[in-house]
Amino acid sequence: MRFLCSLCQKEYPVETREFRCSCGGPFDLAWVPGGLSVSSLRDREPTLWRYREWIPVLEEDCIVSLREGFTPLVRYSYKGFRRLFLKLDYLCPTGSYKDRGASVLVSKLKELGIRRCVADSSGNAGAAIAAYAARAKIECTVYCPAHTSEGKLVQIRAYGAHLVKVPGTRADTAKAVQEETRRLYYASHNWNPFFLAGMKTLAFELGEQMGWQVPDAAVCPVGYGGIYLGLYLGFKELLNQGILKKMPRLIGVQSEAVSPLYQAFSREAIDVAPVPSRETLAEGIACVHPIRGRKILEIARETGGTFQIVSEEEILDGWRSLAQEGIYVEPTSAVVIKAIDGLEKKGLLNHDETIVLILTGIGLKATDTLGQYLRAV
Ligand SMILES: Cc1ncc(COP(=O)(O)O)c(C=O)c1O
Ligand SMILES: [Zn+2]
Repeated sequence: MRFLCSLCQKEYPVETREFRCSCGGPFDLAWVPGGLSVSSLRDREPTLWRYREWIPVLEEDCIVSLREGFTPLVRYSYKGFRRLFLKLDYLCPTGSYKDRGASVLVSKLKELGIRRCVADSSGNAGAAIAAYAARAKIECTVYCPAHTSEGKLVQIRAYGAHLVKVPGTRADTAKAVQEETRRLYYASHNWNPFFLAGMKTLAFELGEQMGWQVPDAAVCPVGYGGIYLGLYLGFKELLNQGILKKMPRLIGVQSEAVSPLYQAFSREAIDVAPVPSRETLAEGIACVHPIRGRKILEIARETGGTFQIVSEEEILDGWRSLAQEGIYVEPTSAVVIKAIDGLEKKGLLNHDETIVLILTGIGLKATDTLGQYLRAV
């Protein structure tokens, strides 16, 4: 098991304290997972650790788990879509899908003997890493934009992490944490490949819950691309193992206010350039320059996927449609609903296809914003 630079292919041991290659490129994980027969899954616990052989944590007693994953997959009737499913990944222990990555990354930190770490986050990843670090008795510092939803900031502090609020944008927070990464292990959900290794379990679960029949398309919010990349890596592994026969089209949704991937893909660019941005209700995907942007664009082309944007009004409309069906998510999650309307109009999705929408964060995280909105209507 080793890290490989995704730009220059230079090798690093996974024990390295560097979070990226000397050339600036992010690391990928080079590791061949063990074999796992899907028939043995029947008797396993309903957590993401049921895919044990496909998760790169070697020591059983280093696993740090709160029984995350194996979240419900439910049918959803919306407009003319006949086979639409919602993956309720906001039902993980800290209220967001980030628990997948956090459980695997913190387990690996335990295995590597790390005692102190730092992370930067729009809030949810910080809360997830703080929770799992607390469980592993690893000291944790989290940097967040000062304007992050109160629900997330309170949660991070409750788990006992040191919280540093950074004025300005998400990019300012990413810059501010750099100094700390010289002193503390950088438990970054965007740079560290072990976080992505946890995200792959989302694809494994969708495969299993759909009887190993892949959907035609999977639609998810995209900021730095953790869910998007995780889905790709997971489905790819299932293809490599001969368990699945095809890859779904992977469709990423961004807020119109911050849409670097949408813009780059529309221009048929190879790489993603930083873009001007505005404030958005979708705080979890307010990323102006995703560090694995080139790879994300490649995946969209390879899988026949695409990107879609939604306006602030559409985010709230989508949020309301979900809430009226008993599904309470935060605005970042709600971007996927109106996105499918737009994609259908462009002929990029059709009503007869099997489509899965990934719902990523629970509504209780954003009570302040959502309360203000409800008072105003
Ligand atoms: C609720 C929610 N959904 C989606 C995302 C986007 O995830 P990524 O940056 O991995 O693309 C985030 C990121 O923080 C989030 O908090
Ligand atoms: Zn490199």
